[in-house]
Amino acid sequence: MAVLNIVEYPNSILEQQCEKVTSFDRSLIKLLNNMYDTMISADGVGLAAPQIGISKQIAIVDIGDQSGTIELINPVIIEKRGEQVGPEGCLSFPGLFGEVSRADYIKVRAQNRNGKTYIIEADDFLSRAIQHEIDHLHGTLFTSKVTRYYEEGEIEG
Ligand code: CO
Repeated sequence: MAVLNIVEYPNSILEQQCEKVTSFDRSLIKLLNNMYDTMISADGVGLAAPQIGISKQIAIVDIGDQSGTIELINPVIIEKRGEQVGPEGCLSFPGLFGEVSRADYIKVRAQNRNGKTYIIEADDFLSRAIQHEIDHLHGTLFTSKVTRYYEEGEIEG
């Protein structure tokens, strides 16, 4: 287990399309465990592999609720509905927060660490966090979707 360095903007790996995962092996499990340690250490609610310098379709989300840690490998949004507008930040943009419109509800198909395909449905903040991480896997950063930036102190921590 290890805490990894987080890649910050601007770094070209953050804007690249990530490759699909094809081998579900021990190194993947180790990577997921290290990503978890890194996310917790940085006080984040999600982390995508390109943020630790690995251009693969792997992300984790944990918003601290009963859903626990969600491991998203090769995730695809297969359904979405509604709209939510709210604040968003990113571990690759320390101190930057902006308002982003996202789908309210999503249904996602992904694989777990063993390669098994599963479906997850989410709304509200969990849905936002998952959409943010899936965007990372396609080189899309939240700053490209921000409609306005918050001033320091505008968001209650
Ligand atoms: Co991010």
